[in-house]
Amino acid sequence: MKNIKVAFFDAKPYDIRSFDDANAIYNFKIKYFKNKLNPDTVIQSAGYDVICAFVNDILNKEVINSLYQNSIKLIALRCAGYNNVDLKEVYKKVHVVRVPAYSPHAVAEHAVALILTLNRKIHRAYFRTHDNNFNIDGLLGFDLYNKTAGIIGAGQIGKIVIEILRGFGMKVLAYNPFTEDDAAKKLGFKYVDLDTIYKESDIISLHCPLNKETYHIINKDSIGKMKDNVMIINTGRGQLIDTKELIMGLKNHKIGYAGLDVYEEESDYFFEDFSNEIINDDVLARLLTFPNVLITSHQAFFTKEALKSIADTTLQNIKDFYTEQKMTNEVCYMCDSNNCLKKTTGRCF
Ligand code: NAI
Repeated sequence: MKNIKVAFFDAKPYDIRSFDDANAIYNFKIKYFKNKLNPDTVIQSAGYDVICAFVNDILNKEVINSLYQNSIKLIALRCAGYNNVDLKEVYKKVHVVRVPAYSPHAVAEHAVALILTLNRKIHRAYFRTHDNNFNIDGLLGFDLYNKTAGIIGAGQIGKIVIEILRGFGMKVLAYNPFTEDDAAKKLGFKYVDLDTIYKESDIISLHCPLNKETYHIINKDSIGKMKDNVMIINTGRGQLIDTKELIMGLKNHKIGYAGLDVYEEESDYFFEDFSNEIINDDVLARLLTFPNVLITSHQAFFTKEALKSIADTTLQNIKDFYTEQKMTNEVCYMCDSNNCLKKTTGRCF
């Protein structure tokens, strides 16, 4: 595998450490680029065989066609979501693989961390006690026990969140386009429609993928159907929420809490240090002013176990491609239909 050249975009020090460790057995030639992949930087892919990309790299029509012209054979995403790839454009040009489940526990546990922190106001208590302020007025929380959680997207991550919240004695409702009755019975939750989730949940947590149906699934209309003082948690993708409507809901006290690990326009800010700069994104800046909003910088995946698993699976995906193995982690826009060849040939095309 020594001669396979991988251009690795948006490389952070922790990526370099985990991929260098995992690459000891594969020996790919990896060149780490600090910058993201986009129409201006795609020129860097010339001379490589594979590109390795992350959540905020841009893989639109223009970038894909440049990659194709540069003879890139494989796009190896080191993440689960692939909403940043124009799957129709890439079809029959460049294969796309991803890491479907590196640690669903990491993301689920972070979602629950956001719930607990917001509810018991740990983020505020931390600063108070550091300032010798031991007053607890204003830090009142509520028992999770017997409250109702609504999970939108009961896949791998959603089901782990359900299991944890059931451990607190919460009632759990879930919406998913298809149902798994065994899972519902085993974990003790109930499938309902979206309106019931909105109407009955004290906490709503988003664990569905971003697609045409889920874009701005949390909007003026759905917020209007929610309970007063509802808590909204998003560790899915920023564009699941219409952020301006979320801010309206916070301002008029309809929404009591928001825990956001992702944000619609995160690619300009998340993962970078702007502590010496001015934030020009007024929507993000407004969100940061609310005491009942907690923003983390797309770090739900960020555990030791997840980083190791991401590196191992990404490099194995590349090896599978070059050794003519079945590519179980390949994705294409037809994967959900019978027209995708993966089920029969092991590759989408
Ligand atoms: P999954 O594919 O196992 O589960 C997603 C579930 O959502 C599936 O059961 C699917 O049927 C359901 N779904 C599809 N369309 C839906 C709709 N319109 N409404 C409601 N549910 C719908 O995926 P997994 O591993 O649980 O990940 C979920 C999402 O979490 C990913 O798509 C990704 O965007 C996000 N994620 C975020 C991370 C972070 O660090 N913040 C890390 C990993 C994933």
